[in-house]
Amino acid sequence: MPARPAAGSLLGIEALDLKDINRILDSARRMQRRTRPMLRERRIALLFYEASTRTRVSFEYAAKMLGATTTVINATASSIEKGESLIDTGYTIMALGAQAIVIRHPSSGAPHLLSRYVDVPVINAGDGMHEHPSQALLDAYTILGHKKTLKGLRVALIGDIFHSRVARSDVLLLTKAGAHVTLCGPPELVPDVARTLADNVTVTRDLREALEDADVIIALRIQKERLEGLQLKLDDYIARYQISAERVRWARKDVIVMHPGPIIRGLELTADVADAERTVILEQVKNGVAVRMAILARALGVSH
Ligand code: CP
Repeated sequence: MPARPAAGSLLGIEALDLKDINRILDSARRMQRRTRPMLRERRIALLFYEASTRTRVSFEYAAKMLGATTTVINATASSIEKGESLIDTGYTIMALGAQAIVIRHPSSGAPHLLSRYVDVPVINAGDGMHEHPSQALLDAYTILGHKKTLKGLRVALIGDIFHSRVARSDVLLLTKAGAHVTLCGPPELVPDVARTLADNVTVTRDLREALEDADVIIALRIQKERLEGLQLKLDDYIARYQISAERVRWARKDVIVMHPGPIIRGLELTADVADAERTVILEQVKNGVAVRMAILARALGVSH
């Protein structure tokens, strides 16, 4: 059993420094300009214990564009359904020849656990309420397509921070890069303690205060599947926190609006905001392919 994750693993933003982050973003820019089949004859397993469209498809396209062979293993259509454990599934995939494992799992820490048992790089494609590092990297990449630098940028993250692994990874990455992050939503979704996620984080309940001066608005999905037991009323949420065209005007003139997806039109944002020119949600999705190519090349020790 390896004592530590294999080199090239990407388990979270927490373990990356700014140099690592910039190296991945630079590599993604090169990938976007010119893609070579640098992972020919490499095998990558995509192990998905939870639903995904964007992350799964973009990792798969990214791997294939680099010439790798991919296999998708879904929890509902594999021996996982028969009770095979995460570790035994990892051993099996490795025995079949996988040279890297991309994993999404509903339990926080599952990729970290797997990485202690397998000796191939493990890439976290979203674990429970913990981290979603490739999303944070593609978010940073997308912002830098519109803004000169992340340093000094004011980013407003609105909505379900508590359940969001994207929020956690975004906050860690953006504050490492010198941005200021304002978290906004009701206490059920944005507990006061969220301000301790990193330096340079503010919490407010007032959407106008969060949006004034914002260079970037990131709306988060309201995770209805995780709201059981909370006192949250969706009508109240919409009245106070939904991102509408009128509310976007509270922010800076050149603000961009982002969302990791999947979006729920009419809940966290209105349909006209989803389709507006300043909204870059589909650009985020598109950039996900280049960023994930960079992550896979890094995992397999191939430089571009
Ligand atoms: N942003 C994101 O993780 O989307 P999927 O759940 O569709 O992969």
